[in-house]
Amino acid sequence: MGKITAAITGVGAYLPEYILDNFELSKMVDTSDEWIMTRIGIKTRHILKGEGLGTSYLGERAVQDLLEKTGVDPLDIDLLICATVTPDMFFPSTANLICYKSGLKNAFGFDISAACSGFLFALNTGAQFIMNGTYKKVIIVGADKMSSIIDYEDRNTCPIFGDGAGAVLLEPNKEGLGIQDAILHSDGGGAQHLYMKAGGSAYPSTIETVTNKWHYVHQEGQAVFKAAVSNMADVSVEIMERNHLTPDDIRYLVPHQANLRIIEATAHRMGLPKEKCMINIDKYGNTTAGTLPICLWDYESRLKKGDNLILATFGGGYTWGSTFLKWAYDGGDFSK
Ligand code: UT7
Repeated sequence: MGKITAAITGVGAYLPEYILDNFELSKMVDTSDEWIMTRIGIKTRHILKGEGLGTSYLGERAVQDLLEKTGVDPLDIDLLICATVTPDMFFPSTANLICYKSGLKNAFGFDISAACSGFLFALNTGAQFIMNGTYKKVIIVGADKMSSIIDYEDRNTCPIFGDGAGAVLLEPNKEGLGIQDAILHSDGGGAQHLYMKAGGSAYPSTIETVTNKWHYVHQEGQAVFKAAVSNMADVSVEIMERNHLTPDDIRYLVPHQANLRIIEATAHRMGLPKEKCMINIDKYGNTTAGTLPICLWDYESRLKKGDNLILATFGGGYTWGSTFLKWAYDGGDFSK
């Protein structure tokens, strides 16, 4: 019997209806379309409105899209892993809520917290259960309602982020398709540059933590930028070399969408032209754990069975990594 690999066999996504554009943002803080486009590359981002709607709402809609497109019975799903840094609540987990809302009655679920690298970490975690033969159908969700932890009076952070979710189905493959290799890293030394200080056990919520704005994302942009460029590029080049891949062998780089300049620097180091980069940061901004599956969803119709993809991320933690996978199906048949 051939080796079992874990392949993505479907993609779903959900972007909430409300669109916050640079023009509206420039009325909220001292910024401009020109600055945001030049420094980051974002035109619009989607924002989830509605009282009591959290990340599980985004995740549930993405899973619904995935199940409708693939025709898979919710009762056949064994496991759902949700990557997020904006869970509905500390507990129960957002994965638990998504399983319930999506009717995945036979699945168990748990969350993974690795900021912008969350989806990649979750994908490789879920893949282990497929490769070792334990499960046949695993859903990986990347979902974040970043608007819930962004200070819309802080021009350093509010243009960057958006809300959104993506979900993929992982199934066993015996043709050698799917995930081939992964390099994943964590370095808690980077925590000081990108974090949300309060609301956890170190600084539980008080009137002071709210007044001090400690429940919002704090980012030292330049330090994170430098670390992102070097680490995301290094790890992407490393995975190419380790798998003897030349730029010609790669169909697409699927990069985390934090800043167009970081994406371009990574592609440049890999020797890839811009046409080989999945880019949708202009439409959605940085949806944290959502960026990679939303990219796959956006570009699905252009993908062909056997295409070589490199997924690459860098984010809070610090966390970063890359994954080499062979796409497992022709994507042209789905209409969005
Ligand atoms: O996804 C998780 C990982 N995160 C990242 O990868 C993000 C990495 N960092 C970045 O993408 C960039 O550092 C930012 C987009 C956050 C900032 O871009 P930058 O080119 O590093 O700008 P900067 O922070 O060095 O600021 C340059 C200037 C400053 O003004 P002065 O001091 O030169 O007068 C800022 O005050 O731009 C000013 N500035 C703005 N101006 C207009 C900062 N934010 C804005 C703004 N509009 N929104």
